[in-house]
Amino acid sequence: MSPFLLTRTLPEDATDAALRADVRTGLTRRPKTLPPKWFYDARGSELFEEITRLPEYYPTRAEREILLARAARIAEVSGARTLVELGSGSSEKTRHLLDALPSLHSYVPVDVSESALRGAAESLLADRPGLSVHALIADFTRGLALPGTPGPRLVAFLGGTIGNLLPDERAAFLHSVRSLLSPGDGLLLGTDLVKDEATLVAAYDDAAGVTARFNKNVLAVVNRELGADFDRDDFGHVAVWDPHHEWIEMRLRARRALSVKIPELDLVVPFEAGEEVRTEVSAKFRKEGIGGELAAAGLRLDQWWTDSADRFALSLATAV
Ligand code: SAH
Ligand code: AVI
Repeated sequence: MSPFLLTRTLPEDATDAALRADVRTGLTRRPKTLPPKWFYDARGSELFEEITRLPEYYPTRAEREILLARAARIAEVSGARTLVELGSGSSEKTRHLLDALPSLHSYVPVDVSESALRGAAESLLADRPGLSVHALIADFTRGLALPGTPGPRLVAFLGGTIGNLLPDERAAFLHSVRSLLSPGDGLLLGTDLVKDEATLVAAYDDAAGVTARFNKNVLAVVNRELGADFDRDDFGHVAVWDPHHEWIEMRLRARRALSVKIPELDLVVPFEAGEEVRTEVSAKFRKEGIGGELAAAGLRLDQWWTDSADRFALSLATAV
């Protein structure tokens, strides 16, 4: 097999149709919303990587610490021959896992961001020319068809990205992950943990303003793809902790009353001064909650590892 294959599971016009539907639905409802997956064009993927290096954004460092400490154990327990990674981005932390899996046959990174997949594969293959990489451009919430690579399979979903799904989306997602696995296969899941509000808000509203640029990048995507005339300066970045749902919400707040034209949708969207668009939730978790959600999807929580400051958890679950 060629060491690098890139498969687009959705035609480009399907992505376009999905963006149109999400923007029309999200911006004509109250409160207005946009799904977070549209942050990640090439610029958005770069901005996310910048976020991971910010002093306030602890999740990436905390998860890397756990992976470094536990990779050998994960490899031993899973015996994985195929590693599937959902929302793989730069695959930076995954290197620790790949290094610990000597009998790995295939790595299958799955992401909506083609630029992230290409960059990750190029950099991984430079160090590991023998690795077979079958990258999939796909939306992991839309049902996945995986290549027929050998088992056992380990599906990794790192970074806390599961927290960017709403609770009903999360339940459907975990069921669809379970359907990709045979009994005995594993799910390695990264989850950010509930903690004090100040730490959480700082992680999503950094002093250098990188997260604000990331948040506003969705407006640039809608401008480019749908011909809209959003002016990023008309919107402020907002990050708030919702203690009831135990999630951070990122929003964009209109600084004045304005309207935005979206010619490709034949739509004009009015904003009142101060009106907000919710662009992301980032749920924070507790062990009992994760165990219950996994069990409801037919996955048994076997291992729960946290970093030295108990900020982030990595769980290893088995398909039953
Ligand atoms: N796993 C990496 C990257 C996390 S950023 C890490 O831990 O650092 C979230 C990644 O998920 C981005 O690369 C983004 O493009 C991808 N993503 C977000 N929503 C997605 C979706 N619905 N389907 C596939 N990929 C998605
Ligand atoms: C990808 N995901 C887990 C990030 C998070 O922390 O929810 C996205 C992000 N949003 C703002 N900063 C980072």
